Parts: sequence; C-alpha cells; structure tokens
Amino acid sequence: MRRRPFVAANWKMNGTVHAVADYAAAWPDPPPGIDVVFCPPWAYLDRLAAALRGGGVRFGVQTTAVEAAGAFTGEHAAEMARDLGAEFAIVGHSERRRLYAETDAVVVEKFLAARRAGLTPIVCVGETLEERRDGKAVGVVLAQLDAIDAGAGPAAWEDVVIAYEPVWAIGTGETATPAQAQEMHAVIRDYLARRSSALPRETRILYGGSVNAANADDLFAQADIDGGLVGGASLDAGEFAGICRAAAQQS
Ligand code: PGA
Repeated sequence: MRRRPFVAANWKMNGTVHAVADYAAAWPDPPPGIDVVFCPPWAYLDRLAAALRGGGVRFGVQTTAVEAAGAFTGEHAAEMARDLGAEFAIVGHSERRRLYAETDAVVVEKFLAARRAGLTPIVCVGETLEERRDGKAVGVVLAQLDAIDAGAGPAAWEDVVIAYEPVWAIGTGETATPAQAQEMHAVIRDYLARRSSALPRETRILYGGSVNAANADDLFAQADIDGGLVGGASLDAGEFAGICRAAAQQS
C-alpha cells in the first residue's frame, strides 16, 4: 500500500488580511485520502485556521525559535504554534539556511524544539546547483540528514516528514525532472531503511521546487515521491487545489 499523500503549502512571507479571506473563499474542500497542510506566515496562521476550520486541512509554521519562551525579541516559539493549532513545523528550509545563516547545528536545535512542542518536523534537505554540477548532491543531502541523526538520537526519524528541495529548483521555475527527484528520494528512503526497517514504509518524502498543477502528476507518480512542499503555486487556491488533486490520484 502506498503511503498517504501529503501536500504542504509554504506561503513564505506572502499574504494580507484580504488575501487570506479571498483564498479561503476560493479554496474547495480537499480531496479525501491525503494530508493537506497550510504553512502561512505566523501573522495569518490564526486567521487562516479560523477561515478553513472544519475543512479537513491541517496547519504548520515555516520556522520557530529554538527556545520555548523568554527574552527573545521578535521570535515565535514552537509551543506558540502548537497553541494556535499548528501540528507541523518546517525545519531547515534552504532560505533559512542561506538567508538567515541557519547551520546544521541550528537546524537540529529547531528540530528538537518542534519535537518538544509536539509538532511534527518537515525537514528540508537539498543541494545547490554548484553542488549538483560537482557531483556532490547525494553527499550534501546525506550530510544534512546525518546532522539530524546525530543531534536527535535514535528516535530522530519517527514521525517526521522529509522534503527534498533542490535549491536550484526553488522559486526558479526550474523543476527537477521526475527521474532526478525520484533518484534522490530513493537515496533518502534507503537512508531511512538503514536506521529502521519500518521507516521507509511509513515516512512521507516530499518533493519541493517549482511544483505546479501541470507538473505534479508526473512527480507524484514516482514510486518514492509522496507529495510536495509547494511555494509559489500554493498562493493561488485553484492551482494548489489542482496539486492536491494530483496527489489524491496516487492515494
Ligand atoms: P517553490 O518553493 O514551489 O516556489 O519553488 C518551494 C519551497 O521553497 O518550499
């Protein structure tokens, strides 16, 4: 049996009060048999959750603080996300790694913060174009997984979603081919198999990087691709609903 498809919307730093209302009005009920998770900006999480309540979707945040509470001006704790009804936290997104200097060590801290708060981490891994050209893509992804493995201990991979997001495909309109994506997903699943035999069967591995309603079918049809982490195309309710339908066809 296939793993239950999982599609997450990463709105990044986009949205307005009006846009959230328009989105909720245009959003159809998602197809059955899949998990749909919205990760809007923190500022709109409560509003979007209220607007879509009862609609069979779930919520997450794009990043959290490492700490649980205290004098950390401007930060938001994982516990606060949980308090607002979120169930997931994206961890290690390449934009956080690159633009906010989040090292593997910080990614591990945030992974553990999500866990402590009862959030399921959506762990992002992926190589840059230069690393791919140098033949280092697999090594980079495995090193990112190893950092979490070392920092989070034996239970690291229980109840985790992994997103393979090649940096060169994020927001560029350039998508990894289904074969390129599948190749890396198989590497990741093999990595999990070496940790525990149950993990490959259970763990959802998403592809992210310029997924849209037109390319989703081919990507999601790959044996080891269990859904998508969708940025730009998730900002349009109709487009994102199309991506969810593509995922549902695989359930
Ligand atoms: P994109 O972003 O779909 O706009 O390429 C994906 C992501 O960054 O999660």
